[in-house]
Amino acid sequence: MDPQRLLVSDLDGTLLGDEVALERFRDWFAGQRQSWRLVFATGRTVESVMAIVAAGDLPAPDAIVSNVGADIHDPVGGPWPGWPTSTDGWDLELVRTCLAQFAGIVPQPAGSQTARKASYHATDLSDASLNDIRTALERTGLRVTLVYSSARDLDVLPGDAGKAAAARFLADSWGVPAEHVIAAGDSGNDAELLTAGFRGVIVANAQPELDALAGPTIFRSAHSHAAGVLDGIRHWTAEPG
Ligand code: GLC
Ligand code: MG
Repeated sequence: MDPQRLLVSDLDGTLLGDEVALERFRDWFAGQRQSWRLVFATGRTVESVMAIVAAGDLPAPDAIVSNVGADIHDPVGGPWPGWPTSTDGWDLELVRTCLAQFAGIVPQPAGSQTARKASYHATDLSDASLNDIRTALERTGLRVTLVYSSARDLDVLPGDAGKAAAARFLADSWGVPAEHVIAAGDSGNDAELLTAGFRGVIVANAQPELDALAGPTIFRSAHSHAAGVLDGIRHWTAEPG
């Protein structure tokens, strides 16, 4: 029988960050292949995720959601069939032109830019500034997902992309219902994923930007990094981790 459960976890600040806890996670997951599918959902590139897996630090996942949810790849780096579902309303050059008018919003290095992810550095943006940016993009006729994390990183993606949309797409394609999906994260680029109707886990070391997230499908662990993820899995499934 196919695995009935799915863990979608962020990497930096969530599964990664505590070697000892990560080893416990690897040990736990090694016995769970029959029951769980595993997806990493990260701002990293797929190549960087594959390198961590190849080094043995992370277990091999069933799929990799990279570039903040712009892309999905299989575990060996092949493009995932059917993704992206749509890029309607996306025009990279128009995004760049539009954001060039905002002072203090600086493009990230070329290596962090992709065809479906325009990334910037912008320190301590207020909600009002974020709204101004969103409005300017929409007025230009674009349909985008705007993601702000760590009070520093601003990512602009196609409207149908993002970690939450990618996780929903994979869960649907595997036939895993939302209540059997656990989503774990630590920063703003996990906010949509954590509130997408899955069972959310916020690790104790999360960024203050997630402080306001609350609700019946959000669990705040008292533990950090991978220990928090294991704690969340225990919380939502009552399985010993
Ligand atoms: C990673 C990416 C960067 C992005 C950030 C937050 O660090 O390299 O481009 O802005 O994640 O999502
Ligand atoms: Mg993170």
